[in-house]
Amino acid sequence: MKVSLQRLPINRVTTDLLCVFVHQDPPLFRKEISALTKTLGAKISAAMNGDFRGKDGETAMAYIHKGARIQRICVVGLGEKRGLTIEKYRRAGATAAKKARSVKAKHAALFLPTLGAKAADVIYAVTEGAILSQYTFDKYITKNKESRSTLEEILIATNSGAIAEAGTGAVAQAHIVCEATALARDLANAPGIELYPETLAEAALESAKRSGYTATVKDEREILELGMGGVIGVSQGSRRPPRFIIMEYGKPSNRTVVLVGKGVTFDTGGISIKPAAGMAEMKMDMCGAAAVIGTFEAVARLRFPIHLVGLIPAVENMPGGNSIRPGDILRHYNGMTSEVDNTDAEGRLILADALAYAERFKPAAVIDLATLTGACVVALGHHATGMMGNDDRLMDALTAAGEKTYERVWPLPLFDEYEKLIKSDVADVKNVGGRWAGAITAGWFLKKFIGDYKWVHLDIAGTAILEEAGPYAPRGGSGVGVRLLTEFLRRWK
Ligand code: BES
Ligand code: MN
Ligand code: ZN
Repeated sequence: MKVSLQRLPINRVTTDLLCVFVHQDPPLFRKEISALTKTLGAKISAAMNGDFRGKDGETAMAYIHKGARIQRICVVGLGEKRGLTIEKYRRAGATAAKKARSVKAKHAALFLPTLGAKAADVIYAVTEGAILSQYTFDKYITKNKESRSTLEEILIATNSGAIAEAGTGAVAQAHIVCEATALARDLANAPGIELYPETLAEAALESAKRSGYTATVKDEREILELGMGGVIGVSQGSRRPPRFIIMEYGKPSNRTVVLVGKGVTFDTGGISIKPAAGMAEMKMDMCGAAAVIGTFEAVARLRFPIHLVGLIPAVENMPGGNSIRPGDILRHYNGMTSEVDNTDAEGRLILADALAYAERFKPAAVIDLATLTGACVVALGHHATGMMGNDDRLMDALTAAGEKTYERVWPLPLFDEYEKLIKSDVADVKNVGGRWAGAITAGWFLKKFIGDYKWVHLDIAGTAILEEAGPYAPRGGSGVGVRLLTEFLRRWK
């Protein structure tokens, strides 16, 4: 999809669908509509007929005669001016672009007149909403291929010189970050028959080559030699061998950030097998890995002046004659042992190795992302990522990036009292903590394996896997983490 910004008066726009945004406040609304009507001919007010109020999410279509520069106009409501947020603009951008697709427009222009101080942020958000809303995962649907319509071009148009100036960079950057989010969604939605540790590693290698960073891949023998007993253990029930992916962007510095992503390409639960209902979702148990790959793609293409390392332990968790069993004890990269009480708590077993390995890079911060626990979905649903860690400033920075991108995070405590829930009689730690506080005991397990660095754990089990479509994402993989981390790293000094 082509996305660009142009400065031109509204009556000079040529497009299949012109989208304009109006407020709900009656005087403002009247002013906005009458200005439009004046420049475009008295078409809109007639079509509106008082039915349309400019409510948040509301739209009205008006049609211009054939052969006109503009074929149709879509008026998109923003809701009341008081209480208008950046997220509302993001959703309005999505509403406009979805409307464009539904009328099979190939070209849509989103017109933004004057905006005030937050112009660049508004343009960034509108562009994001518009692009993200067009994502579909339909490559395996063979029916009606021809009649399916895709929007080929989005033009952000403005008559304001100031906005054009502020917005050009914003549109280009938003476009890159949204493409990186779409990559993460594609990886998430890919079925397990196609996406397994080796092909996930290939995807990272391809992204690295395309975008300007490096990726190296450790195979099973090398993982064994490194002593990553968690990765080896979880993967050994599968015919698909594990991979350990190491990514690097930028020049080594004393402000290195390490991103760690859970890469379970399919999670059956192993011998502690999951129930059949809903198990298909577990093809998305590599969303942490997808977020890391997507973030690398964005950061490299945007040429951020930072040093970034990515670590992805990639495995398939299957039951089989060679699977690990409840009661088994694994030895991790740092020499610590864990008792496997439940083979379905596999994510923490592979992350333990990766988090211990992260110490090698002397990082200033380590952030891991994982679809780690159903308990986190019970606690926060699909609207907030669970956040735990050992450094308040790092967590504050992620909270701020979450507010900005609307990929919001919410803290859960790692109080000392929770530690004893994962005490083992036979090993250094047990991989499950019983019925209560499941997201926290998982976080505590990880905490046992971190090195001497500042660390944040993000449990994205609810936010990465959408059971229902969101305002700018279909159901399935949301690509969560890419926009959050890119925003966090944009601010990283
Ligand atoms: N991948 C799952 C967690 C999950 C559940 C992610 C639902 C997304 C949606 C994880 O490996 C898992 O199975 N966790 C178990 C842990 C339990 C055995 C302690 C869980 O949450 O039930
Ligand atoms: Mn599991
Ligand atoms: Zn899992």
